[in-house]
Amino acid sequence: MAIAAEDVFYSYNAGTPAEHAALEGVSFSVERGERVSIVGHTGSGKSTLAQHLNLLLFPRSGSVSIDGVSSKPGSPDARELRRKVGLVFQYPETQFFAETARDEIRFAPSNWGMRGDDLDACVDEAADAAGIEPSLLDSNPFSMSGGQRRRVAIASVIAMKPDYLVLDEPTAGLDAAGVRGLERILSDIRARGLAVVQVTHDLESALAHSDRILVLERGRAVASGTPEEIAVFLADNPVQGLLMPPTARFAMGLRSRGIDVSVTSGVPELVSALEKAERPDE
Ligand SMILES: Nc1ncnc2c1ncn2[C@@H]1O[C@H](COP(=O)(O)OP(=O)(O)OP(=O)(O)O)[C@@H](O)[C@H]1O
Ligand SMILES: [Mg+2]
Repeated sequence: MAIAAEDVFYSYNAGTPAEHAALEGVSFSVERGERVSIVGHTGSGKSTLAQHLNLLLFPRSGSVSIDGVSSKPGSPDARELRRKVGLVFQYPETQFFAETARDEIRFAPSNWGMRGDDLDACVDEAADAAGIEPSLLDSNPFSMSGGQRRRVAIASVIAMKPDYLVLDEPTAGLDAAGVRGLERILSDIRARGLAVVQVTHDLESALAHSDRILVLERGRAVASGTPEEIAVFLADNPVQGLLMPPTARFAMGLRSRGIDVSVTSGVPELVSALEKAERPDE
C-alpha cells in the first residue's frame, strides 16, 4: 500500500506565454507507516509535488497512484482516493473559519455524513492524535498559540481518517519549543500507522526524523535515499538553499578521520565517539 508518483511533469499556466515548468520528471513513493521528507530550496517544486500526492493537481504527464489506483481529473475515484491522503497546507490556520477548535475539527467528517456519537468520538480521537488537550477543544483557535493552532489544523485533517498525512512546512513560523512539540506529534502519528510526508526546507529536521528523504532542485529530483545517504550525497553535491547542519558536517569530518559515527548523530553521540577515539582502551 503506497502512494507512487512516477515521472511526473507539471507546468503552471500550461499553453500560455506564462507557462512555468514546476516539476520535470519527478518520481516519489511513500508506503503506509513510513516517514518521508521532501526537501528543497524555495521554488524547487515541493508544494506542487505535495498537491499531486492528494490529487489536488494532476500531472501533465506521468502518473500518481494511491494504493495502486491512479486517477484522472474528475474521475469518480478521485474523491475517495483524496480522502486517503490528508494534506495540511502551509500556514493552515489562515484558513480557520469556526469559532471553536471542536467545530473546526468536526467540519470535514460531518460533511462526509458522520453524526452523533460517532462524530464526537472522531473529534476526540483526532484531537488526541494531534496532541490537543480536551480542555482546549472549546477554545477559539485564534486565541491559541501558534503550535496549538497548527495542531488543530492537523487534527482537522486527521479527522478524515486518512492513511497518509502530507504536511507542507508544518513547522514554519513556530518557535523552537513549538517545533519540538510538533515533531513529537508527527512521530506519534506515524506510530499509529499513518504515513507522514513532511515538506520542509529544514534539512536538519529531515535528517533527524525521516526514514527516507527526497531532494528537489528546480523541479527535478536530484537525490533520494536514507538520511545517511542524503547527507553523504549533499556533502559532495551541495544543493542551493539546503544547509548541512553543523552536527552532520562535524560527523562527516570525524568519518574522514576514520571515526565511525552516524551523520545523523546528535551532540552527545558525537562527544562520546570522540572520547572513545581518543581513549580507545576505556
Ligand atoms: N499558482 C502558480 N502559478 C504559477 N507559478 C507557480 C504557482 N505556484 C508555484 N509556481 C511556481 O512553480 C515553482 C514551484 O513552486 P512550489 O510552490 O511548488 O515550490 P516550493 O518548493 O514549494 O517553494 P517554497 O519553499 O517557496 O514553498 C516555482 O517556480 C513557483 O514560482
Ligand atoms: Mg511551498
